[in-house]
Amino acid sequence: MTPATSAPPASDALLGVYRRAPMEFVRGAGVELFDADGRAYLDFVAGIAVNALGYSDAGLERAMREAIDGGLVHVSNLYRTAPGERLAEKLIERTFADRVFFCNSGAEANEGAFKMVRRWARTTGGTAKHEIIALRGAFHGRLFGTLAATDRPSYRAPFRPLAGGISIIERDLGEIDAALNAETVAAVIVEPVQGEGGVRVLDGEFLRALREMTRTRGIALILDEIQCGYGRTGTFFAHEQLGFTPDVLTVAKPMAGGLPMGAILATQAIGQTLQPGDHGTTFGGGPFVSSVALHVFDRLSDPGLLASVSINGAWLGEALQQLAAASPKIRAVRGIGYMWGIDVVDPAKDIVARALDLGLLICSAGDHTLRLLPPLVMERAELERGVKLLSEAVG
Ligand SMILES: Cc1ncc(COP(=O)(O)O)c(C=O)c1O
Repeated sequence: MTPATSAPPASDALLGVYRRAPMEFVRGAGVELFDADGRAYLDFVAGIAVNALGYSDAGLERAMREAIDGGLVHVSNLYRTAPGERLAEKLIERTFADRVFFCNSGAEANEGAFKMVRRWARTTGGTAKHEIIALRGAFHGRLFGTLAATDRPSYRAPFRPLAGGISIIERDLGEIDAALNAETVAAVIVEPVQGEGGVRVLDGEFLRALREMTRTRGIALILDEIQCGYGRTGTFFAHEQLGFTPDVLTVAKPMAGGLPMGAILATQAIGQTLQPGDHGTTFGGGPFVSSVALHVFDRLSDPGLLASVSINGAWLGEALQQLAAASPKIRAVRGIGYMWGIDVVDPAKDIVARALDLGLLICSAGDHTLRLLPPLVMERAELERGVKLLSEAVG
């Protein structure tokens, strides 16, 4: 059920940790990718929520060319460069945060956030206060600390023992209440919209109660907006719709237009506890990537773009609900903005393959859940085309 392709067989040189589709992409334009045979694919994956501006975006390409003008790609965090400092200032201006640390991926941002909250908790509560709690359905990454906070048994089992002092509990306020011991718990980490866990928009009341519990007990709240942040839900950050701020926020995926970048944003109270030598990264926040990220920040925080994600996203949700009402093959539809999950009867991978055959890229979030993450610049006509193709693929 995959498209015929003249691409050479997949190379054995790469570690076999992905089941890659057979065609080879050679070009992208707008919201489409093109394979080596010139076949177009409408992209509802966006590099898994990375390519918010789609492909061949003129502004992004200009920003990349300008970023290289001074000849500085990297100089090390031992020295100051302006773009990273400017980007940190913009993020601070836009959010609750007082301090920013740049890194290179989502998992790395969360790993750093874990260290940060432990460092802070040690100063407020001593060594016993070190536990980190994540929630059922969470995905926070695949490095050692983050894997322990990621609720996917198949990802975890081959690598036990996992990092200690990190546990997963139910998304239930009673259980959370019982687990949040101020003496031992440093932080709770949560995605406002669980992405990999099936596109689950967590209930606002639930999240506000969690915020209150953590605040009153002196426990840090980390929001992981690596997938749902930077415009994807129709506001620049998803938590802007919740009426509260976290103590720490992690972002990554779309930050630098496809270049690897992540960031940890923290309050002064937490950020100030980290001293020289406590954390570091060779590449994080270098001048090239930060210059490009400044452009992406301006584009994705533009109120016009955010309004269009919000309005078109609501339309997309409505269209998917209609599809669900008409198809016994769809069990449920969940989402917000340009982030939707569809529970299906057939194995998700079969539908993903059928969609590919029809020229539509979608991905999964679990064995029976499809996930749609179109570029944030996708317009209504292309969303409509995608929904039609999706309907065919679901069957
Ligand atoms: C919510 C969330 N956190 C963390 C990560 C890990 O990011 P990365 O793959 O860049 O390490 C992801 C990746 O999908 C994610 O969706």
